[in-house]
Amino acid sequence: MSDPDHPAETGAEPGPSAGTAARVSIFDTTLRDGEQSPGVALTVSEKLEVARQLVRLGVDVIEAGFPISSPGDFAAVKAVAGEVRGVTVAGLARTDRADIDRSWEAVRGAERPRLHIFIATSDIHMVHKLKMSPDEVLRATHEAVAYAAALGAEVEFSAEDATRSDPDFLVRVFREAARGGATILNVPDTVGYTTPQEFAALIRHLRERVEGPRGTDLCFSVHCHDDLGLATANSLAAIEAGATQVECTVNGIGERAGNASLEEVVMALRTRRGRYDRTTGVDPRQITRTSHLVSRLTGLKVQPNKAIVGANAFAHQSGIHQDGVLKNALTYEIMRPEDVGLVASSIVLGKLSGRHALSAHLADLGYDLDEERLRRVFTRFKELADKKKEVNDLDLLALVEEEAGGVDGQKREQWVLEELQVVSGSKVIPTATVVLNSPTGVRKEASSGLGPVDAVFAAIARATGSSPKLLEYDLKAVTGGQDALGEVVLRLGINGKSALGRGVSTDVIEASARAFVAALNKLLAFPEAQGGEVVGAKAAVGPDSD
Ligand code: KIV
Ligand code: ZN
Repeated sequence: MSDPDHPAETGAEPGPSAGTAARVSIFDTTLRDGEQSPGVALTVSEKLEVARQLVRLGVDVIEAGFPISSPGDFAAVKAVAGEVRGVTVAGLARTDRADIDRSWEAVRGAERPRLHIFIATSDIHMVHKLKMSPDEVLRATHEAVAYAAALGAEVEFSAEDATRSDPDFLVRVFREAARGGATILNVPDTVGYTTPQEFAALIRHLRERVEGPRGTDLCFSVHCHDDLGLATANSLAAIEAGATQVECTVNGIGERAGNASLEEVVMALRTRRGRYDRTTGVDPRQITRTSHLVSRLTGLKVQPNKAIVGANAFAHQSGIHQDGVLKNALTYEIMRPEDVGLVASSIVLGKLSGRHALSAHLADLGYDLDEERLRRVFTRFKELADKKKEVNDLDLLALVEEEAGGVDGQKREQWVLEELQVVSGSKVIPTATVVLNSPTGVRKEASSGLGPVDAVFAAIARATGSSPKLLEYDLKAVTGGQDALGEVVLRLGINGKSALGRGVSTDVIEASARAFVAALNKLLAFPEAQGGEVVGAKAAVGPDSD
């Protein structure tokens, strides 16, 4: 384990008051603002999976969604509020009573429920979007916050587009919110427009002028978007100016260019503790795992050069750098890969290892699988151990993550790939035969295609009687070497619904088939996606044909 008080070991600076540094609250909005990223739609069970991991990560607040926005979001927020413990669960609402009631209905089961109410305060939003006068916005703010507080909720108030609002009007709005009972005042840089010094000045301006009634403690919070690539810098500047809550998302996902990235804010505070003198409750060793989970479930890939969680974040390419790191890692590394939970160890399990050893090792890595999933991962592990010389933690995590993906409310997937045979080459028509198992029996089908993957997809479509469209397809190697596992992530669509599937195997055609079946199982959980007619090779458009 890393020792943050020993900079020579970790690169982290000791704080000027190590041990007594003030705490910054981490408000994670991956499940709300993050889910607003184009193309992302998480199911209830996926949101729950992320929420459980956010608890392991140690965030203070989980904003689980915007309950009035859809029945699915309402169900997800309610499920998160009902299950996770030890964190605050927030639900977003506009100033309308219907929004507030719906959000309260969703979060009230939480151990610590919070209503997050927002209204826009910039002229451009008030005139063109809200069509409300400043006085009407002041009134709506007070009424909504007072109404929410009277329900018994902890209330956070956000002045949307705060950084393009008149700072003196902002003071008036926040005073109204505080008078109504809001204890957390959030200053969003909604369009990612501000700069660090300007934002810090705004936070000071507000802190000096807005007080809680009868000396109530107010928390000033910030919520930065990354349109100019300044979200992390702006959040850190606000912390220096006295903000005590930062809103952020895992991998920085979110509307347009995204939100401030949780891992960047947390690791900047930790690595530069001497400068900021602030701590968070986040366990940095959970960062990599959380990043992988969010990327897998949202389908949003992390760019290789992304700070902290990118594949290259700890890779040293040039000879000079490699030489320096070998002599002393601190020459070019300000953080250690293991500090952020990047597993470097080679797995101690081999093909003779039993189920108990696998389960114990998975528990060490933070995975607690139910019996059925453990059985499936164990079977896959044995198959892999027969093929690969060395199975490392990354391979194992890839298998677990594939087997961990399930469908809401279903104990067993609808379709399971049992067998796959492919004939392909430069002089033959690619043909695939698949055997699939389902609760209603076994189906065997064959099909040709433009390429082997196309043929496999067409055979699966035929066997399952469905006609999904392939919307996205991505293939990468999990680790290096000729025997590396291939990982396929794809998105299928049927009748306006889409779902992601993920498959891993040393055989990339099998990985593709597994990913296809996984996405299909999720799609078939939607009633709209059922009943597609059986179609041939043209119905399932493979990556090698489109
Ligand atoms: O960016 C924004 O202004 C928001 C608010 C709802 C906090 O997401
Ligand atoms: Zn936002």
